[in-house]
Amino acid sequence: MYSAATSKKLQEQTQSFLENTASITADNIQALRDVLRFHEYRYYVIDDPLVSDAEYDQLYKQLEKLETGNPLLITTDSPTQRVGSSLNQNFPTVQHLVPMLSLDNSYNAEDLFDFDRKAREATNLDVIEYCIEPKFDGASISLIYENDILVRGATRGNGVEGEDITTNIKQIKSIPLSAPFSKYGVQQVEIRGEIIMTKKAFAKYNEGLAEQGLPPLANPRNAASGSLRQKDPKAVAKRNLDAFLYHISYYTTIDGFTFSSDGEQNDELPRSKFLATHGGSLDMLWECGFRSPKKEKMVVKGIEEVIKHVQDFEAMRDTLPYEIDGMVIKVNDFGLQDIMGMTTHHPRWAIAFKFKARQATTKLRAVEFQVGRTGAVTPVAKLEPVFLGGVTVGSISIHNEDYIKEKDLKIGDTVLIERAGDVIPQIVKSMPDIRTGKEKEIVYPRQCPVCKSELYKEETEAVWRCINIECPAQAVERIIHFVSKDAMDIKSFGEANVRKFYDLGLLKDVPGIYKLDFNAIGQLEGFGKKSIDNLSSAIEASKQQPLYRLVYALGIRFVGETTAKTLANAVENLMDLAKMSEEELQQLEDIGVKVAQSVYNFFSNQQNLAMLEELQQLGLQLKNVKKEKTGTDTLHGQTFLFTGTLAKLKRNEAEALAEQHGGKIVSGVSSKLNYLVVGEDAGSKLEKAKKINTIKIITEDEFLDIVK
Ligand code: IVH
Repeated sequence: MYSAATSKKLQEQTQSFLENTASITADNIQALRDVLRFHEYRYYVIDDPLVSDAEYDQLYKQLEKLETGNPLLITTDSPTQRVGSSLNQNFPTVQHLVPMLSLDNSYNAEDLFDFDRKAREATNLDVIEYCIEPKFDGASISLIYENDILVRGATRGNGVEGEDITTNIKQIKSIPLSAPFSKYGVQQVEIRGEIIMTKKAFAKYNEGLAEQGLPPLANPRNAASGSLRQKDPKAVAKRNLDAFLYHISYYTTIDGFTFSSDGEQNDELPRSKFLATHGGSLDMLWECGFRSPKKEKMVVKGIEEVIKHVQDFEAMRDTLPYEIDGMVIKVNDFGLQDIMGMTTHHPRWAIAFKFKARQATTKLRAVEFQVGRTGAVTPVAKLEPVFLGGVTVGSISIHNEDYIKEKDLKIGDTVLIERAGDVIPQIVKSMPDIRTGKEKEIVYPRQCPVCKSELYKEETEAVWRCINIECPAQAVERIIHFVSKDAMDIKSFGEANVRKFYDLGLLKDVPGIYKLDFNAIGQLEGFGKKSIDNLSSAIEASKQQPLYRLVYALGIRFVGETTAKTLANAVENLMDLAKMSEEELQQLEDIGVKVAQSVYNFFSNQQNLAMLEELQQLGLQLKNVKKEKTGTDTLHGQTFLFTGTLAKLKRNEAEALAEQHGGKIVSGVSSKLNYLVVGEDAGSKLEKAKKINTIKIITEDEFLDIVK
């Protein structure tokens, strides 16, 4: 899309805009837009940003300001025009230019040999060239561009008609609002692709749901498809969706020709190199600024190569940053595609090769109720164990009463379960059609299954809770959470040890972790000197964990890792949180009424305050160490990497110094790196950095000058 020379020019322009914002005027509004589009492309399409988020925002705000002052200068494809205003959109029904067909499926080599045989027979060829690409597991969409401008985005619907979701589509930053199709002689074009949520975005989304006390979504596919019909476009923007575009279904050329991928009359069409083969069309989409599977695709001759490639790809499926459920094999030549044609259901020139399922059906045998650290009573479905995506699944959380109702679950049901990549298995649905009549309703207890006290449920919530603060189940769960990897990360403690010590009366609450009687533990079977030493030093080390880990470890309701970081960053000392009002808490980023109330309640509770006091006396770090040091934020958004032997500082001291001033340490040389600090005998990192002209290569002294 952007040549090296153009990229360099745009990057220089970026720097000059950033250095001298006064130079940004209505006269160079177009240059500013080009710069912003370039950085959107770097960030969202090729995942290789050249500026920090803050720098991008700064320029974006300038554009907004200019456009507010000069509304006549706004263009439909301006980066500011993604943001939708309507809160309650309708999604009118629209007709696709060419029906969106499905794909035929294959599951093994034999199916693929069969597909190849038919293709060779239909085309009278001995060997066929195929283009192979991932089968993206998301929600399909179709986009129409006219005279280079995105004019419509639609869902698949029933294949013939879909829903117009243009405003929501515009929220997806990897979809360009304008694309230079005219360069290829194309006037109107309909393209297809898949809206996906990356595994990372999905994990973050589910984390957000968990913080609100809501059950997670089962897989990124549901998350993506559920997003497309959101009434509020801003909610779509928040979900960080992505899009792969992989098929041109229709186009008209500037000189009056029409191509239709379901037509058999495309003979007269002039075919440029980009429009002669499927692989070429993916290159063209890439050149037009789309995230097409240009790099993921592979063009091979003959079906044997295809089989080898799809098998290799399946083996590395989990290393991809997004979910795929198979591969799609397409006859590469468009002329041959025309000869082969379509059935009413699928094109004959393409086939999906489906990977081994990560879904399975099994029986829901029983439901057990577990008490969590916040007293929430969670139903857990006990399943007939099934092997799924590399692990045996025997139980799955079914969250709450609403969830059970929504999924229509009964004991004895056959259920479909899914394990999407590294996501915790979820129940996708039950199968009421095959019930025998012997299935039993799931009866929710009204008493705590552990301490037998009565359960309570707030009207606005779906969860029943044991509110007995002394409930042993909660105490144990609180300790397990406190020592866990994402919290205080006390290695060699673990859930089993917590339970054992608790049951033996050696540990009864969180401060108890720091008062363990190692003599008594030494008497237990399986605890030699070495394991006690390990445990004791891990406990000791945890006292110095950064404050956000402690905040998270406290297990305050609705406070997940992200919120814990926000809270910790807002204070000098943990106890400062106890002084904040609900209103003050709500001023913090992404902290709403519910979270603020929960944090406020936690710090208003005398027992909790006494526990924190005790933790401090036991030697835990309650201060926000980073904030305490005399750091500044002058290096905010800047990334650093140190290489070679430094003369004045130790490597970790230098890194800490950069961090104290708001800088970030990265692990490798890429265009995301701002500064490479070079010591003696620097090697390959220096060589690599020299090739990327945006990286500033500096000496240790120059670094010390910067942080001075
Ligand atoms: S081509 C006319 N290519 O899979 C051919 N489809 O199970 C149109 N899909 O409806 C489809 N990745 O939503 C094609 N690389 C890919 C794909 C892909 C995912 C989806 C698409 C299709 C479904 C069929």
